[in-house]
Amino acid sequence: LDNGLALTPPMGWMTWQRYRCITDCQKYPDECISDKLVRRVVDKMISDGYLDVGYEYIIVDDCWMENERDSSGHLVEDKVRFPYGMESLINYVHSNGFKFGIYEDYGRKTCMGYPGMLGHVQKDINKFADWGIDYIKVDGCYNDEVDLSDGYEMLKDALNNTGRPIVYSCSYPAYHDENSIPTDFMKLSKNCNLWRNYDDIQDSWGSVTDILDYFALKQDFIAKYAGPGHWNDPDMLLIGNYGLSYDQSKVQMALWAVLSAPLLMSVNLDTIRPEYAAILKNKKIIQVNQDPLGIQGLRVLRKNKIEVWTKKITPVIGENYSYAVAFYSRRTDGSPQEFNVTLRDIGLNFIGGYKLEVNFIIYNLAI
Ligand code: DGJ
Repeated sequence: LDNGLALTPPMGWMTWQRYRCITDCQKYPDECISDKLVRRVVDKMISDGYLDVGYEYIIVDDCWMENERDSSGHLVEDKVRFPYGMESLINYVHSNGFKFGIYEDYGRKTCMGYPGMLGHVQKDINKFADWGIDYIKVDGCYNDEVDLSDGYEMLKDALNNTGRPIVYSCSYPAYHDENSIPTDFMKLSKNCNLWRNYDDIQDSWGSVTDILDYFALKQDFIAKYAGPGHWNDPDMLLIGNYGLSYDQSKVQMALWAVLSAPLLMSVNLDTIRPEYAAILKNKKIIQVNQDPLGIQGLRVLRKNKIEVWTKKITPVIGENYSYAVAFYSRRTDGSPQEFNVTLRDIGLNFIGGYKLEVNFIIYNLAI
């Protein structure tokens, strides 16, 4: 979507993966979706340096609302969990240098059963714009339209009508995929800044590998639609939660960087272990992800259950592309493996050779 936003993949923190639809603040005072949680995240993202490395959007996913609209038909934030109102919270987020994102659904209800936008689109969007949102994730539950793309296009117009710059994240391709409805990616990339292609990520290595397999399988079709202002979204980062080991976490970070994926973490920042936080804050990897060319990386080789993925990035020297290269082992036999590839094997053919940088050490490579 050409609205001047998301020129590099959005980076931020989102509630869903870690905090889901926890609404019982009596039982879970520190984990329920609430004003308190968001303010705590704001403070932590500053004190622990996440904002400094680029994580700027704070996004509240499903379960922030009251069960019903108010008497004038407006959506309302849960009065117990957001006692000062959404506007006050958004001001807090802004005054600390962040941008704020909210979730809604283009259906009768959100996936978790709160009021949806169907039939109220412009009214709801105007309300969000008045509150000062900077980002909206629009989900696709409880909608009977077979092809959702026209509805999402109308939503884009409604956002445009507000005159407020708002990043637009569309979930409909994932719903189309689930129901075997083809998605017109040209239209999608004109209407949305980012979009979910596939299933929800779950907190496990199996889910990460499944998503990566999907992205590799579809890469010839989808990768070309990624670029400044429009991104494929393989879903949130799991890093720092329960399901990934330290090394698996590095794989997710590296591959999400190579895929030019939005970097949306969803983790308890009070308890994350420092070595996991360091993965999320790795500046070199973030630089690969945020490369201004915005070219989505591809799986270029698969051999002995080891995959090589490359992403063209802004040239370091001369006019030829530089590449970020990720090696990704799918082996489960647990013994050290020797792995040999040539540069040509992975499509690096520049006659002048390459300089290889590994952990900040530079080597010269000839082809
Ligand atoms: C489905 C989405 O894909 C998830 O990311 C999350 O937003 C939930 N819905 C919320 O209900």
